[in-house]
Order: sequence, then C-alpha cells, then structure tokens
Amino acid sequence: MKIETARFVQAAHSQDGFLSDGRPEIALVGRSNVGKSSLLNRLVGRNKLARISSTPGRTRAINYFLINDRFYLADLPGYGYAKVSKTERAAWGRLMDAYFQQAGPGCACIQLVDAKVGATPLDVQAHEYLDSLGRVGEVVATKIDKVGRSRRAAALRDIRQQLQLQDGEIIPFSARTGEGIKKLWRAIDNRLAG
Ligand code: GTP
Ligand code: MG
Repeated sequence: MKIETARFVQAAHSQDGFLSDGRPEIALVGRSNVGKSSLLNRLVGRNKLARISSTPGRTRAINYFLINDRFYLADLPGYGYAKVSKTERAAWGRLMDAYFQQAGPGCACIQLVDAKVGATPLDVQAHEYLDSLGRVGEVVATKIDKVGRSRRAAALRDIRQQLQLQDGEIIPFSARTGEGIKKLWRAIDNRLAG
C-alpha cells in the first residue's frame, strides 16, 4: 500500500473516546516497550508520528491514526509493565475489554512479541484472549535485528510453539532495519480487502 496520508486523530482514555465511524481498524497489541509505536512509525514511514520512548509504559491511551483516509491503526497501551500500580493495571484491563468488545467486525490485531525475549506468560494470555474474540490477525516477532543468525530459527519456532501457531504464521520484523515491512503490509492489505 502506498501511504498518501497518515495522521493522528485522537487519544482515547476511556470508552467515550472510541471511534466508530465504520472504517476498519487494526490494533497494535503487545507488552510495554515491545515496539508497537516503532512498528507503526516504520509501517507508515514517518519516524515521529507515534511517540517512541525507551521508558516503558509511555503510551497510556489508545492512540488512533488514520491512514489514507481509509483505515485506522490503533496504538494500544502496552501490558505487563511492572512499575504500574494495581489500580492502573486494572484500568488497562477494563479499557482493553471495552475496546475489544465494542470493536466491529472490521477490527483485527497485530500482536507483537519480542523476538529475543520470546512469548511471555502475559503474551500467551493476551493471545488466548484475542483469539477467543476472533481478533488475532497477525503475530509479529519484532526486534528481530537483536537475534543473531544462528538463533533466529529457534527463536521463531519457540514463539510459534508458545502461542500454538501453525508454520509460517509469524512475521519476523524490525523497526530498525525495516525487515518484514513488505510482508506485514501484504497481510494488512489482504485483511482490508476482506
Ligand atoms: P509502550 O508505548 O510503552 O507500550 O512501548 P511500545 O511498545 O510502543 O515501544 P516503543 O515503540 O516505544 O519502543 C520501545 C523501545 O524499543 C525504544 O527504545 C525503541 O527504539 C526500541 N525498538 C522498537 N522497535 C525496535 C526494533 O525493531 N529493534 C530494536 N533494536 N529496537 C527497537
Ligand atoms: Mg508506544
């Protein structure tokens, strides 16, 4: 897909901020600091569109970006950040529940897993949750640039096993090198084409 326009639309801190204008929506889901905002920026080729930070837990709301006036990329707050209070974690859970429950049939997810860290128990839990709602679109093993050549196949196999994916159902990706962008765009295009 050629990116003509990409713009930030709004941040939703609660249900009141959810968008529902009928455009398809692709949500980026994953641990805090896994690289969701970086992936978004890389996908649209704008390195400052979504805010990136080496401090985990930076994205606290659902940030909506409108791409080509055609669909939304929703940058979701990351889960699993240890320094977040219980109250905040519960609020995150409620926001996510509300988000995925209200989302129309045009909503799918890209779940990001750190290629080097592998799928954590929270990643597995998130995957099962999204799967049960029929929301998992793609699984991306990001930061693949951090995994050495010799470890690569095993790292991908481990994630597939942990998330019980079939062969091929994972896209190695790097926001640093750009690896995997074409493959991910193809997957997104297919999904949008319905
Ligand atoms: P939250 O908003 O806190 O949930 O984090 P996030 O998932 O949006 O992560 P973000 O994109 O802000 O990236 C976190 C850190 O990882 C930053 O320091 C990025 O530069 C780094 N990072 C992201 N993607 C990659 C990648 O593909 N390779 C490498 N080496 N580093 C990456
Ligand atoms: Mg972020």
